[in-house]
Amino acid sequence: MATNSEVHAFPDSLVFARKLGGALGRPVERIALHHFPDWESGVRVRATPGAPAIVVRSLDDPNAKLVELLLAADALRRAGAGPLTLVAPYLAYMRQDRVFAPGEPISQRVVGALLGSAFDRVLTVEAHLHRIEKLEEVFPCRAASLPAAPALAQWLREHAAGALLVGPDEESEAWLRHVAAEAGLAFSIGRKRRRSDAEVELSLPALPAGVTRAVLVDDIASTGATLAAAARALRRTGVPAVEALVVHAVFAAGSLPALAEAGIARVVSTDTIPHPTNRIGVAALLAAALAGEEG
Ligand code: R5P
Repeated sequence: MATNSEVHAFPDSLVFARKLGGALGRPVERIALHHFPDWESGVRVRATPGAPAIVVRSLDDPNAKLVELLLAADALRRAGAGPLTLVAPYLAYMRQDRVFAPGEPISQRVVGALLGSAFDRVLTVEAHLHRIEKLEEVFPCRAASLPAAPALAQWLREHAAGALLVGPDEESEAWLRHVAAEAGLAFSIGRKRRRSDAEVELSLPALPAGVTRAVLVDDIASTGATLAAAARALRRTGVPAVEALVVHAVFAAGSLPALAEAGIARVVSTDTIPHPTNRIGVAALLAAALAGEEG
């Protein structure tokens, strides 16, 4: 990473950007954001000509944020900034990676093309990639998704000794295998059927004998329906203590009380999306990738 790089943050990404800037030893510039009466967005940047720019913003609530990122990239180029890197700790629109039903778009490709043409490099954490292996298959620029497994495993080693890890569905198996190996814990995988956004059915295989504590581990929680269904299934098998650990804490309104009602005693997340459950920081992970030029 160039020693004259500048970190640029929107008001909503300032907290994370300060952690990243601190880890990199680089200053943070605030991107001014204005909304016109029709809710059109206006941005204004302050850039040092020639300095590479690292723009920080997670793409939860993504629609306006996407447009504002494109505007910021244009403003930075016009202000003479050097190469532009987008650090999006959470990257939205990655789940629609194929046409699941006739008439649908491939949103992942649309968003990849937009961001990849505005920025020279995109870095994120644990993007939801299932039918592609690398972000660069859909981003026309350097792009990488950093694994959250080391950060999750460290938390589990420190806070969940002896727990059984539970992944909610087959899609989580390969990923959870890494987390479990790094944490030195056993894991089981459930079978999930989603009926609608908020309706999930989930069954578990026979669990090892004598499990007294289980930690549900998932890459993202949106409605919380997956975690709630998994917790109910665990409680039915007689596991007395159930917790949840997720990377991206979307957590729609009302989902946390529903999780408590389903028997989840504690919910922990990384800080890719600001949320009261954030306990695990990923800024150091991103800073190391930027400093080492990975991805
Ligand atoms: C699915 O593939 C993901 O890993 C999550 O399990 C899912 O997105 C969680 O969504 P929700 O919280 O709405 O059940």
